Amino acid sequence: MSQTMLSIRNICKTFGIGTVNEKVAVENLSLEAEKGDFITIIGSNGAGKSTLFNAISGVFLVDSGQILLDGKDITDMPEHRRARSIGRLMQDPMTGTAPKMSIEENLFLASSQKGWLGSISKEDRKEFREKLALLGMGLEDRMESPVGLLSGGQRQALTLLMATYHPPKLLLLDEHTAALDPATAEKVLAITKNTVAENEITCLMITHNMQSALDMGNRTIMMDGGRIIYDASGEERDKLTVDSLLNKFQEVTGGVLDNDRMRLG
Ligand SMILES: Nc1ncnc2c1ncn2[C@@H]1O[C@H](COP(=O)(O)OP(=O)(O)OP(=O)(O)O)[C@@H](O)[C@H]1O
Ligand SMILES: [Mg+2]
Repeated sequence: MSQTMLSIRNICKTFGIGTVNEKVAVENLSLEAEKGDFITIIGSNGAGKSTLFNAISGVFLVDSGQILLDGKDITDMPEHRRARSIGRLMQDPMTGTAPKMSIEENLFLASSQKGWLGSISKEDRKEFREKLALLGMGLEDRMESPVGLLSGGQRQALTLLMATYHPPKLLLLDEHTAALDPATAEKVLAITKNTVAENEITCLMITHNMQSALDMGNRTIMMDGGRIIYDASGEERDKLTVDSLLNKFQEVTGGVLDNDRMRLG
């Protein structure tokens, strides 16, 4: 039986209310995700994709509407409390890990969830080494290196491992491979696919790469002007190509899907 993991009901978010810069970033948006859904999200710059993620993770409160996670109303819950059940990766590999701390110290923080209580045991190190080896990035032999010395790809892989060490109810990926070179991006996407599938994590992934949007996950939504303008899954989605996706955008909005990072992808 399917179980609704995320339920977003008519949320609105306007920035700079009453100023000349007033901007409706998310407008009356509703979205339901079943447990284990992996939804890819595409849209032009300023479509409201990151704002949607900020609203879900509690960076700010929404102006109206409701957000439920695993049946619990989190609409008014502060960000740090939501963080216990929501993992998040950003575009910048520098966020999400502590640069001066070693790989094993970062993993210890992620594994213990209670901050610095106790010290890293032999068993902890064995577990970290095994999990790192699975990433295929050679990090298992550098456990005492400061995270700040890692490449962007290694760092995103480590951040992903940390964010899913205790699988969250929801994983939000905001263009987490956009700053990486194409080959490294592919590698991190493969790690993402495995991690999400193995742990049956419900995941939303924003990407500017139309091909990844179709290759990854089981559902694709397109956003524009703060709203969801297209939602594809099942056979309909199986038939989609990058071209038909771009045509769909034009059909619905009358404009061209344009994202400044699309050409880099
Ligand atoms: N904190 C903020 N204060 C004011 N305006 C904001 C803020 N965050 C986002 N906006 C505005 O809200 C709109 C949606 O921005 P958002 O970052 O959600 O877009 P996006 O779809 O993630 O775009 P991109 O593809 O460029 O990352 C934009 O017009 C943006 O300028
Ligand atoms: Mg964004």
